[in-house]
Amino acid sequence: MDRIKISGGRPLNGTIPISGAKNAALPLMIASLLTSDQLTLKNVPNLADVNLLARILRNHGVDHSVDGKRAGPTPHLGETFHFTARDIVDTTAPYEMVSRMRASFWVLGPLLARMGETRVSLPGGCAIGTRPVDLHLMGLKALGAEIDIDGGYVMARAPNGLKGGRITFAKVSVGATHNVLMAACLAKGESVIENAACEPEVGDVAECLVKMGARIEGIGTPTLRIEGRDRLEGATHTVLPDRIETGTFAFAVAATGGDIVLEGARKPLVEAALAALERTGVSVTEVEGGIRVSRNGSAIEPIDRIETQPFPGFPTDLQAQLMALVTMARGTSTIRETIFENRFMHVQELARLGADIQLQGDTATVRGVKRLRGAQVMATDLRASVSLVIAALMAEGETTINRVYHLDRGFERLEAKLARCGAQIERVTG
Ligand code: EPU
Repeated sequence: MDRIKISGGRPLNGTIPISGAKNAALPLMIASLLTSDQLTLKNVPNLADVNLLARILRNHGVDHSVDGKRAGPTPHLGETFHFTARDIVDTTAPYEMVSRMRASFWVLGPLLARMGETRVSLPGGCAIGTRPVDLHLMGLKALGAEIDIDGGYVMARAPNGLKGGRITFAKVSVGATHNVLMAACLAKGESVIENAACEPEVGDVAECLVKMGARIEGIGTPTLRIEGRDRLEGATHTVLPDRIETGTFAFAVAATGGDIVLEGARKPLVEAALAALERTGVSVTEVEGGIRVSRNGSAIEPIDRIETQPFPGFPTDLQAQLMALVTMARGTSTIRETIFENRFMHVQELARLGADIQLQGDTATVRGVKRLRGAQVMATDLRASVSLVIAALMAEGETTINRVYHLDRGFERLEAKLARCGAQIERVTG
């Protein structure tokens, strides 16, 4: 298993290109199941999750190629992918696949809508919480699906096709919104989704669906109106920039000091995170083609209270990174996690570097310390792992991060991007 070694204490200076968003690329790839025509996606990040999902989709019969060539092991940074689901050859998404990547559960709605039946493994829990799928199932039932659970699988049928329906989600769910939105595009008649997720990745998928011929109103708002169509067509779509990667590098430069331009980043996608960053005393400015983040000499100010919320609130996917930053603030910060019940696995690892964090229920109280010291730490999930990278960049001495495959799932060329800005970071393969 690969490890990453970081010697901390160096500022970051230069430019970092922001990749296409993982959490948009994955559902966009799944949207290819809705049409027998070709869906072309540009700016797809080269990530383990993208490659795994491409393999999963291939099982269903989705042919894919990269920039005119057959997909292969060659790196395809920010590449153009072509997906064609001319014939769906298998409507089952097996446990071995779905348990490795939760987002593959989102094939449920599209396969059901296109094929009238599907069998998709329940994904199970994960490192950040129990993560039930009741909202996905409720939404699809409202579109007329008959659903049973058998042997750990969701068995969904709609022999006469899905019908438009009205869905009001009790809780904001990104995945349930993707699933039901995609299914509703091929249902007969009008569907209305209330309390839909407003995350930019949902908007990006909806924009792509419109290019494929779907009729969707209210994109970017909590109420989506969908007029179902008999079929969708092929389209070409460019994946939007990754707001979580943007926020992560912004937090990293806040942590180390320095001056970085995040190329291709879009400020409206990360307002809440940047506002939090400004509260810590960091300067954030919009520049042509990106966002500039700098902290030169000033101390990191604590944040008295911040809580994660659905978009446009502070994202749960940046909670761990913010926590890493304020471990060295001059005072006490409190961070409340409201989206996932167990997203604090990084706390014990940050403590290994010398952080002073108390957990009480859903709230972490972080007392700023004068210094962190390098140690061996373990990555537990994607965002927790990158919080350890940020802490290691601040720490004195060397930190070794084990189990970095989590990072490879969601950060494209992380070491290269940081190293070219002055970080001392290397991957040890083995
Ligand atoms: N929830 C339910 N029932 C459901 C679905 C969700 O109770 O049927 C709950 C979840 O347990 C959670 C909350 O609703 O407490 C929000 O979950 P959501 O469904 O929005 O999460 P998700 O769609 O599974 C996506 C991202 C996550 C991100 C969350 C929240 C992708 C591939 N995943 O997950 O990203 O944290 O939205 O914004 O888009 C990551 O990239 O590291 C990651 C975990």
